[in-house]
Amino acid sequence: MKAIVVTDQAAGTAGMKLVERPEPQPSINDVVVQVCASGFVNTELGWPSTWADRLGRDRTPSIPGHELAGVVTALGYGTTGLSIGQRVFGLTDWYRDGTLAEYAAVEARNLAPLPGDVDFTVGASLPISGLTAWQGLFEHGRLQAGQSVLAHGAAGAVGTMVTQLAREAGAYVIGTGRATDRQKALDFGAQEFVDLGNDALEDVGGVDLVFDVIGGDIQKRSASLVRAGGTLVSVVGPTEARPADGLAVDFVVESDRAQLGEIVRRVRDGRLRTNIGDVASLDDAVAALNPTERISGQTIIRVRP
Ligand SMILES: NC(=O)c1ccc[n+]([C@@H]2O[C@H](COP(=O)([O-])OP(=O)(O)OC[C@H]3O[C@@H](n4cnc5c(N)ncnc54)[C@H](OP(=O)(O)O)[C@@H]3O)[C@@H](O)[C@H]2O)c1
Repeated sequence: MKAIVVTDQAAGTAGMKLVERPEPQPSINDVVVQVCASGFVNTELGWPSTWADRLGRDRTPSIPGHELAGVVTALGYGTTGLSIGQRVFGLTDWYRDGTLAEYAAVEARNLAPLPGDVDFTVGASLPISGLTAWQGLFEHGRLQAGQSVLAHGAAGAVGTMVTQLAREAGAYVIGTGRATDRQKALDFGAQEFVDLGNDALEDVGGVDLVFDVIGGDIQKRSASLVRAGGTLVSVVGPTEARPADGLAVDFVVESDRAQLGEIVRRVRDGRLRTNIGDVASLDDAVAALNPTERISGQTIIRVRP
């Protein structure tokens, strides 16, 4: 099969190559999915799991990409809940070969059915951004109606999902980002916008939940904005700052079939919009994932036309 591989961590996305690889075989409880569309998060190439297995052994050449939408083509021993020919989408194991390929082996429990009226390109854009926003807001952040959320990077992949889900849950959302992202953040539902390059973050006042996708100094300054009993939720590694009278939580997104179902239901009924900036074929993926100019929105690789 055709697949994108990486072998050299120092080379970053420029080191991606389109090569021929053996088709994956399904292990116990796996399915093999014929990948129709694939999502890739730029920071993946910095994660240890891209380069080494759970015992720390080199696993290169590895196939990056951990979001997919496609069709089940084979079932492993003991696999239940999915059937051959079924449309699915979901998140694949960080430590296994991923989705920038024509086929991927995935544990069935990591996938959810993709309704027939949801395009594969849309399906592949949802798992990481949608589940991260859902888990950060509702599981780790325990968001309640009437609370306020500071959504950093509000025009980004995670941020646009955070904004939309928080608004639907009855929260007041203050988005942040670059000056050029103001209108996009407002279009996705942010009620206010802080241009981190020019506005004073501290003018926001107190908030109940900070959803951090940036880290560093922005995170430290945001921690002091969290009201008593509130939470700083971070998805960029262990938190460096803690609210004076609140929680600091960092987490890595996990697959969850029920939550994937909630997310795709909202896409179908118009409550959630995707944030796709570019769509490219697998043949053009290396160039698309090494853009020469800033792309606003996710890049999705359409593996099968
Ligand atoms: N732990 C987890 O489970 C998990 C899950 C998903 C994502 N993540 C992480 O979360 C981060 C965001 O992911 P994403 O997919 O949402 O990325 P994204 O689509 O690039 O969105 C991030 C947004 O924040 C903006 N931004 C970043 N730094 C900024 C700064 N200093 N000032 C103003 N704006 C800034 C970006 O603008 P520019 O494009 O101009 O920089 C972009 O609009 C990544 O580091 C990713 O690895 C973690």
